Amino acid sequence: MTLPQLLERIHRQLLPELQLRSLDPHDPVRVLNLPEPWRILGCGNYAAVLHHPGHPELVVKVYAPGRPGLAEEAEVYRRIGEHPAYSRCWHVGESFLVLRRLHGITLYDCVRQGVLIPAQAITDIDHALAYASARGLHGHDVHGRNVMLHNGRGLIVDISDFLNPEPCTAWRDLRLAYVLLYRPLIAPLRLRAPARLLNGVRRGYRLYRRLRGRRAEH
Ligand SMILES: Nc1ncnc2c1ncn2[C@@H]1O[C@H](COP(=O)(O)OP(=O)(O)O)[C@@H](O)[C@H]1O
Ligand SMILES: [Mg+2]
Repeated sequence: MTLPQLLERIHRQLLPELQLRSLDPHDPVRVLNLPEPWRILGCGNYAAVLHHPGHPELVVKVYAPGRPGLAEEAEVYRRIGEHPAYSRCWHVGESFLVLRRLHGITLYDCVRQGVLIPAQAITDIDHALAYASARGLHGHDVHGRNVMLHNGRGLIVDISDFLNPEPCTAWRDLRLAYVLLYRPLIAPLRLRAPARLLNGVRRGYRLYRRLRGRRAEH
């Protein structure tokens, strides 16, 4: 299937029937209705990422109604250009982007499923972030669901916030957790963290950041 054919299916088949709901901006978007043969690859707090089996190397990132940021994400991809650790934007629609599909599993799912995260993946992400900085972008919101592992290499799957110049410690904190917690404890014991625990960590971490932010304001 060519890109124009995929675009036609998006307009004729996917968008008329797709129903997305985003109740809380801090929780992932939910897909309430998805026409056949489309499949869900993942959901973030802004968008659902879908693909059509006829075009396995491209994905469609559809923003939930009312969620901003599509134009900014398109601009970030324009600046990133081509880099092995990032996806690539092939088309910008009104409510969706067509992106290169990245294979692999998110680091969040690695911890959940007990898949070993090698140090090389962390180094790859460091390098990819330095590349983004050199292009005037900022490594914003680089957390466990936005980074992936594929064949031992690290990928950054979500760069939608990279125009945001406010400091963001998400990657620094994740990296620290990797060095202090993951390498010495979780990896050797081959621990699996259940989703409920990880969700608790996510909520606790958000609270911690809010409290720390408030303190910084004083
Ligand atoms: N290019 C891609 N290839 C494969 N899966 C992807 C791609 N982009 C996103 N995903 C999957 O979809 C999820 C949500 O996408 P993301 O870009 O993080 O959305 P949001 O901007 O709403 O946070 C990701 O965690 C990942 O699992
Ligand atoms: Mg995301």
